[in-house]
Amino acid sequence: MSKVTVTAIKADVGGYVGHGAVHPDLLVFADERVRTAIADGVLFDGRVGSCGDDVNLVLTHERGVDDVEVHRFAWETFVGATDVAKRLHLYGAGQDLLADAFSGNIRGAGPGVAEMEIEERPSEPFVVFAADKTQPGAWNLPLYKIFCDPFNTAGLVIDTKMHDGFALEVHDLRENRCAVFECPEEMYDLLVHIGTTSRFVIKHVFRKSDREEPVAVASTSRLSLIAGRYVGKDDPIMIVRCQSGLPALGEVLEPFSFPHLVAGWMRGSHNGPLMPTAVGDATPARFDGPPRVVAMGFQLAHGRLVGPRDLLGDVSFDRARTLALEAADYMRRMGPFEPGRLSMEEMEYTTMPDVAAKLASRWQPIEPVAGEASPVTR
Ligand code: 13P
Ligand code: 13P
Ligand code: MG
Ligand code: MG
Repeated sequence: MSKVTVTAIKADVGGYVGHGAVHPDLLVFADERVRTAIADGVLFDGRVGSCGDDVNLVLTHERGVDDVEVHRFAWETFVGATDVAKRLHLYGAGQDLLADAFSGNIRGAGPGVAEMEIEERPSEPFVVFAADKTQPGAWNLPLYKIFCDPFNTAGLVIDTKMHDGFALEVHDLRENRCAVFECPEEMYDLLVHIGTTSRFVIKHVFRKSDREEPVAVASTSRLSLIAGRYVGKDDPIMIVRCQSGLPALGEVLEPFSFPHLVAGWMRGSHNGPLMPTAVGDATPARFDGPPRVVAMGFQLAHGRLVGPRDLLGDVSFDRARTLALEAADYMRRMGPFEPGRLSMEEMEYTTMPDVAAKLASRWQPIEPVAGEASPVTR
């Protein structure tokens, strides 16, 4: 069979209640749109899901990445769902739709996109991860563990097909440039960058022998960099393929047994633990969080989706949830102090600089003490 494209797209088009969840009417609307697109031959298949206040679409088709028709379909689905949200007076209706109209590609228009064109293997298991109250850099740590850490992924050590490692393509969101790091050889060079999760994000992972067909892809849009102001966090989505020469499903899920700290909790301005949950439990509440991650497992069958199975709802992640709640207690006690609150640099696109601007006239220069150099020249 010819190649299959898997497209995962997400957008916040209105929260129910506040920023906590998606209203069922939005999901019903999107599901009807997907069924029509399948009947019209635009898509092979599609599923509608949610994580927190974000709607996600998992679509399969034969049109390749960045396809105008598929992106138009997703854009118009989010626009229509926004109308439903407006009728219900949901919170922040149309929050992630930053462009006034569709201009041929949904990238850069607000919604997050992760897509890959692949040759479907005889069995093609993959996972779509979606997170709420965080940003694309939240995937850096788990992707590193999945594809570079032998303590996470046994296959890197004992599977001949994985023993050579993988190539990771990193995007610098500030300078708009990218670089590829081959691991394990360049692990330390990779870590120098991806530890700065607000700026460097892993976009694609490839087999070293094939830089065309990704084995993982993540959304990387930063809404604040597009809009130049705070418009909610860039709750990300990613696709990771598994098994036979790639990390096993359990190796792909393993990093989420540790609820690492991510940026994005409450007003997009606080650090908090990324708590793995069942899809039905991905409803941020306490301090608008803590941040959530869900995993939808699929098999492909001639381009059709078999699934999803809700993977992080499994009991084997119960202790990760408990640890996340303990970490949440600890982080909350920091109140408005760093690193509970994000650093000054990362607060640039929130409402905090407006408050600082109001107080600007309050600040007076400190006169240098005689004989002592001024703080600036010292
Ligand atoms: P594969 O069959 O994909 O090689 O996986 C092996 C396995 O045992 C996973 O835990
Ligand atoms: P979202 O980015 O999920 O809309 O959350 C925004 C927010 O301010 C939560 O406190
Ligand atoms: Mg929202
Ligand atoms: Mg959200």
